[in-house]
Amino acid sequence: MNIQGINIADLAEKYGTPFYVYDFNRVEEKLEELKRAFHVEEKRCEIFYAMKANSHPVLLDLIRKKNIGIDAVSPGEVEVALKAGIAPDKILYTGNFESSGDLARVYKQGVRINLDNSRSLNKLLNIGKPETISFRINPGRGSGKYEHITTGGEKAKFGIPIDQVLQAYKKAQEAGIRKFGVHTFLGSGILDEDHFPEVVALLLEKANYIKSKLNIKFDFMDIGGGFGINYFGEEKSLDIEETARKSLQKFDDLVDEYELGSPHLAIEPGRYVVGDSGFLVTSVTSVKESFRKYVGVNAGFNILLRPALYGAEHDIVIDGKQNLGKSEKVDICGQICENTDIFARDRKLPTVEEGDLMIFKQAGAYANAMSMPYNMRMRTAEIGILDGQEKLITRPENLDDFYNRILVNEM
Ligand SMILES: Cc1ncc(COP(=O)(O)O)c(C=O)c1O
Repeated sequence: MNIQGINIADLAEKYGTPFYVYDFNRVEEKLEELKRAFHVEEKRCEIFYAMKANSHPVLLDLIRKKNIGIDAVSPGEVEVALKAGIAPDKILYTGNFESSGDLARVYKQGVRINLDNSRSLNKLLNIGKPETISFRINPGRGSGKYEHITTGGEKAKFGIPIDQVLQAYKKAQEAGIRKFGVHTFLGSGILDEDHFPEVVALLLEKANYIKSKLNIKFDFMDIGGGFGINYFGEEKSLDIEETARKSLQKFDDLVDEYELGSPHLAIEPGRYVVGDSGFLVTSVTSVKESFRKYVGVNAGFNILLRPALYGAEHDIVIDGKQNLGKSEKVDICGQICENTDIFARDRKLPTVEEGDLMIFKQAGAYANAMSMPYNMRMRTAEIGILDGQEKLITRPENLDDFYNRILVNEM
């Protein structure tokens, strides 16, 4: 397999496996595609890249160069985005069980704040009065590809019910805040274009209700992320142009109908920007004939958690065997000492042998970002490819990194 003319087997030879490799030209294409589709230059939409998907500084630098904003979900993310040169007014912090400490850290940086709890406003006002405030509404329903990535509805920990949101905006007005945003996010991994205009309609209906009670004019109305990519066995892809056209049309129509002034739409794509630009390259360590046929690789859920966490499936190829018939069904597993460390069950593949390179596709988002050194299996290297040049952009973690944090060995 090749990426921008670079041979993956050569990278494996040079750096050893496992490693993540990213096609940064593909990321640039996705960013341009989003900007065009959502008419960002014409200021009809503001894009905040959800950096939780992948926060490598090289990626943040590409985001900065494309003049795109950042959706940050922790003070740490805000600080890393600032360090990458993203301007504070291009960062939207969306809280989640915000502590006073978190709010003080992000307030100090001058970024926009989107609160996930009406009570957090009191905490924030004790720290200072922000120029702009936004609240994340839970409209009482959600929809995500998996239950675990559904972020709206009664069982979601996110968002605020509308009656509480109303009180929170009222309090913000009384405190003298004059600029407002409004936010919602129903779930991730959506491949249905019509979902997004529906979220627009849901959010604007709530915004209209708030406006009718408090006469608030919103600057931005944010529908979050959720733009899906094809992983494995998907029947269709998300048509981003159609998604954007329908969403903007709905937005314009409802802004007029409800007389909401001149707000702009905001979106927070994560997966769509970087998901299909990343690949996890592993080596097959052994094949085991037990009650089932298992193929083991030198990775585990410590570096690719999505299958164990959500039951997510990635497309998997055996390098050099892409054109061979899929002659067997195997379970693919990692080396972590947990029975949930299974990447795929009953996956049809060509005959796999020890030493084969097994490549997990669509591994750019929520992949390395969730890595951990469980079982003393450390986080892995990352390689970036841009304009036909490859570079090691993160070295593998080692045991010294572990010991560096240990202060006491005996007590
Ligand atoms: C607040 C918020 N915005 C945006 C996103 C990005 O979602 P996606 O990667 O589906 O675009 C997430 C993901 O969990 C999120 O929590």
